[in-house]
Amino acid sequence: MSFFNSVTHHPEDPILGMEVAFKADTRPEKVNLGVGAYKTAEGTPQVFSSVRKAEKLLLEKNLDKEYLPILGNAHYIKESEKLLFGEDSPILSTNKICSAQSLGGTGALRCGGELLFQNNISKNIYLPDPTWSNHWNIFAKAGMKISAYNYYDKTLHTLNFSGMKKSIENMPAQSVILLQPCCHNPTGITPSLEQWKELSILIKNRKILPFFDLAYQGFDQGLDEDAEVVRHFVKSGHEMLVALSYSKNFGLYGERTGLLSVINQDETTSESIRSQLKHIIRSNYSNPPLQGQRIITTILQSKELKEEWVQELHSIRERIHKMRKELLCGLTQKTEPNRFQFLTNQTGMFSFSGLNKAQVHKLEKNHGIYMQANGRINIAGLNSKNIHYVIESILAVI
Ligand code: LMR
Repeated sequence: MSFFNSVTHHPEDPILGMEVAFKADTRPEKVNLGVGAYKTAEGTPQVFSSVRKAEKLLLEKNLDKEYLPILGNAHYIKESEKLLFGEDSPILSTNKICSAQSLGGTGALRCGGELLFQNNISKNIYLPDPTWSNHWNIFAKAGMKISAYNYYDKTLHTLNFSGMKKSIENMPAQSVILLQPCCHNPTGITPSLEQWKELSILIKNRKILPFFDLAYQGFDQGLDEDAEVVRHFVKSGHEMLVALSYSKNFGLYGERTGLLSVINQDETTSESIRSQLKHIIRSNYSNPPLQGQRIITTILQSKELKEEWVQELHSIRERIHKMRKELLCGLTQKTEPNRFQFLTNQTGMFSFSGLNKAQVHKLEKNHGIYMQANGRINIAGLNSKNIHYVIESILAVI
């Protein structure tokens, strides 16, 4: 008999749980296309050279390890706001932004969810169907009632734009809508800028509050281009929340570094919003960690390091584009020409392959190829050494 007898087993996380299974697999030919973490052409994790240089500079400074303020480092917040909203954005010189350093994008989403729920801003959030599986956990734990909105057409492998608009038209006023402005996880399918402009009008008319999850800034077109949607919504006068993650674009996965920004049109409420964010953070983890924000602030404040980082991001983008093309080319050579054509419409780190659960299972069991059960492939896990094996294996299971 134990106090803990009531504890039941919770299933593994569908994404991070795969890492455990992959590591335990002893087959030398195994391939990890699961968790969304960038891998180099050699199949190894990438630590950016700009990050290494920033770490060296920081070490030489012999900095102390005192607590940060609850909302985080003010310089980090300022640099992050510029990166997100644009250096010249008029919003930056107002008191309409309240930001907090966060534990990656996940921490920002969770704090934002708690802010919404605990302050009666909204208790309803709508997520795209499909979406990153953890979105469901995060907002449920924050207390929100979660519903899905139409997003993806599984048959055509395209955005279901009319369905998406219809869903928005049916959302009650005061609801929150979770939007991924670029590199949609898991589908890789994102509305065009023209469609976003239409959505912006619709969302505003319906009195719905957008909550952007920007986890892949710089992975589609570039840093400014990938933030264009958020900037357009700001220019259009929306209030909003934005969760920014630096896990992928600085490769700082385990440093847990991100930002939550709230844009509120009534500046008189800003201090109250900050005070509530402080309360949420203090009661969760007290205050944020030092190292990730130190690295990022060092890079963003240095012209040379920033240029180097932008260049590194550019190379990552190019490699992902190349792998996506090679995957398509390899699959197309041995199937009917249009079977996988939709892969080229997808952007970012992921490809929604269209493989079903049984096919994904066979790939794992018979070939040691790991991917999410919904058929999501991390394109960045492909390289010249494994891509032919992956193509042959996919062809063998379809
Ligand atoms: C992913 O979607 O694979 C990444 O965002 C990693 C994670 O935390 O799930």
